Order: sequence, then structure tokens, then C-alpha cells
Amino acid sequence: MLFSKILIDWYLQNKRDLPWRNTQNPYHIWLSEIMLQQTRVNQGMPFYLKFVDAFPTVFDLANASEEQVLKLWQGLGYYSRARNLHFTAKEIAFKNNGIFPNSYITLQQLKGVGDYTAAAIASFSYNEVIPVVDGNVFRVLARIFDIKSDIAASRTKKEFFELSQSLISQQQPALYNQAIMEFGALQCVPQNPNCEICVMNHL
Ligand code: ADE
Repeated sequence: MLFSKILIDWYLQNKRDLPWRNTQNPYHIWLSEIMLQQTRVNQGMPFYLKFVDAFPTVFDLANASEEQVLKLWQGLGYYSRARNLHFTAKEIAFKNNGIFPNSYITLQQLKGVGDYTAAAIASFSYNEVIPVVDGNVFRVLARIFDIKSDIAASRTKKEFFELSQSLISQQQPALYNQAIMEFGALQCVPQNPNCEICVMNHL
């Protein structure tokens, strides 16, 4: 069976109901993805809910003081993320009339938005067919496809990106990207994965 179909079927049966999965609002998706960098879902979630409540639109965040933003960020760590977030909110609000860039390429121009985050926003908000590739995706694909490449080598990222481009669902790219992240978080975990029950045994 097709890799993306097995993965998406697994996801639909096992996914957690997370608040940023019930929206296509690029501002909310962007907030969640910045917060979840180097941060566990359970740790990031209350901060996400607090931010969306305090700053429901990019204008609210842009108009806040840096002090207010850093205060709400308190406890999440990596404070450069909060400063970049605030900077970028002001750029979008005041230089772009509050309109988010709407493609992978243009999203990458934003401060604090790298390849992974640009792919997440482009797919989740705009259904662009562009794969997310992060450490979780490396682990999942390396195990399933028995790839031994050195993950520190710069060529390796390209290798995984190209493999991901060949695997992503053309019809449901957002679902595929959520699914591979969730598969890495719940089933294909870093330590002691339970491979006996893995749906990929039937690939
Ligand atoms: N970690 C990073 N992005 C995520 C997402 N969209 N859902 C769950 N965990 C994530």
C-alpha cells in the first residue's frame, strides 16, 4: 500500500486533538510552530492558548510592547524566539497590512521562520504540497527506509527533503505533514519504539 495512505490512515485513528490543528489561520499556525520548536506539545500548549487569547490577531501582537510579549513567554525559554516573533508580527502588521505571505518561498523570508516552519505554515494554512522535514521526520524515514546517512552532513537534509517530496500526498499535503509529525511523536519515538505493532510493517 502507498506510504502516505498508511500514514494518514494511522493518523486519523491515533491523532491528538490539538488546538492548532483546528484552524487554517496562518497567524495561529505560525505562533504554534514557533512555540513548539525545541518544546514539547504539553509544555507549549498553555502558552499557545494564552497568546491566542491575549493577541488574537497579528495586529494585537504587533501593537503589544516587547515587555508584554516577553512576560507572556516567561517559562517557555529560548527568548530569541519571542523577540523574532514580535519583530515579524510588526513587519506583517505594519509593512504588509496584516497579510501573511502565502507560499513556502515567501514565508522563508520572515525572520525566525526556517525551512521547517515555512513548510508547516504553507501546507497547514494554504495546502501547498511541501513536506516538513525536521529531526522527527529524519528519524521516522531513516528507520522505515533504512537510511544510514550521517544526519550532521548538510547533504543529508537534501536527501530527506527529496525523499519526502516523493512521499507526500499530492491531494492531502497538510494531513500528510501532520501525520508524519504525529507518527514521530507517538509511535516512532526516539527511545524504545514498539515496532511490533507498527503499521509500516505492512508497507
Ligand atoms: N510539533 C511541531 N509542530 C507540531 C504540530 N503541528 N503538531 C504537533 N506537534 C508539533
